[in-house]
Amino acid sequence: MLENLNAQPQDKILQLIAMYRDDPRDGKIDLGVGVYKDATGLTPVMRAVKAAEKTLWDTEKTKTYTGLAGEPAYNAAMVGLILGAGFAERAASVATPGGTGAIRQALELIKLAAPGATVWLSNPTWPNHPSIIKYLGMKSAEYRYFDAATGEVDFAGLIADLGTVAEGDVVLLHGCCHNPTGANPTAAQWQQIVDVLKARKAIPLVDLAYQGFGDGLEEDAQATRLIANSFPEVLIAASCSKNFGIYRERTGILIALGDASRKAVTQGNLNFLNRQNYSFPPDHGARLVTMILEDQALTTQWKTELEEVRQNMLTLRQSLAEELRRATNSDRFDFVARHRGMFSRLGLTEAQVNQLREEAGVYMVGDSRINIAGLNSQTVPILAAAIAKVIG
Ligand code: LMR
Repeated sequence: MLENLNAQPQDKILQLIAMYRDDPRDGKIDLGVGVYKDATGLTPVMRAVKAAEKTLWDTEKTKTYTGLAGEPAYNAAMVGLILGAGFAERAASVATPGGTGAIRQALELIKLAAPGATVWLSNPTWPNHPSIIKYLGMKSAEYRYFDAATGEVDFAGLIADLGTVAEGDVVLLHGCCHNPTGANPTAAQWQQIVDVLKARKAIPLVDLAYQGFGDGLEEDAQATRLIANSFPEVLIAASCSKNFGIYRERTGILIALGDASRKAVTQGNLNFLNRQNYSFPPDHGARLVTMILEDQALTTQWKTELEEVRQNMLTLRQSLAEELRRATNSDRFDFVARHRGMFSRLGLTEAQVNQLREEAGVYMVGDSRINIAGLNSQTVPILAAAIAKVIG
């Protein structure tokens, strides 16, 4: 049997982790996978998470199975964090292994409910989106998203393409901090996106993996809340990996908003999908998140730490944009300061990306996506000089 297997293509983002690790050069710079790092290159455990873990260690009496959909308290806390109050009646939800698990379960739910639907993806998007869709044998299409010349959202192209979506099609939207570009619609543009998709009777699927990394915890939820309030049916796949820094705990949630009268059946289908795929979702990370969100002091501490993380990335953005202005003697890269979240797509060619890796030990994704958190005040000018050199 196993001789029938063909080699699978390697994930381009995860591949960079090994390449970077195996590079013996001092001074190499890792701007690859989307993991937050402090100025020393460490991905720290947040103090609020450590505090919750300590309490959990002291008080946890059993590790027996929890609910198939996750602990109800986790789901309720996450629905509140993402959507605010007032959605309990419309929201069915399941805890999932990370944001990827939430996306996978969302797509599986779509396959059950609307097997013929096309799933629309931004061009570009996180490569795992099309990869999972292809694996599940679903139909997909692309809408224009990014203007490589300006580094901004190609809004005219986006609106034109979303205007062709068929009734019942699913449109995947990055709720904030677009991955891989870092370019995001303004509030007014989000309203226009909603208006077009409502007119087309489309179903939004929001991927919210970076809440709190862009303009703030509440601000980053605004587009998702607008969508939740505007459509009869919405799917939201969210991750706690980044904003709680609990990557390896695999903590995510899928929320399905629909008519209150359909909630029980929708919930039953979500539970069914969890049972088929992995039964009970991971609990440890979800429990820590719940403990933090249910405790005022821990919530305050977590928000303070998250805000530090966000501010660090904004400072790095600002200084990289300034250094690039100096090093290239142009405003070509000013968009880096306007982008939000962990990522910016720089608009370099694949050959230039390879050259940066080979000659300067700078690791970024082949499409020239950088993880801004991989920088620090020492490496910002080094990167700017290396980029100026390769673009000649
Ligand atoms: C990324 O885009 O780098 C992150 O979301 C990590 C991943 O799983 O790809």
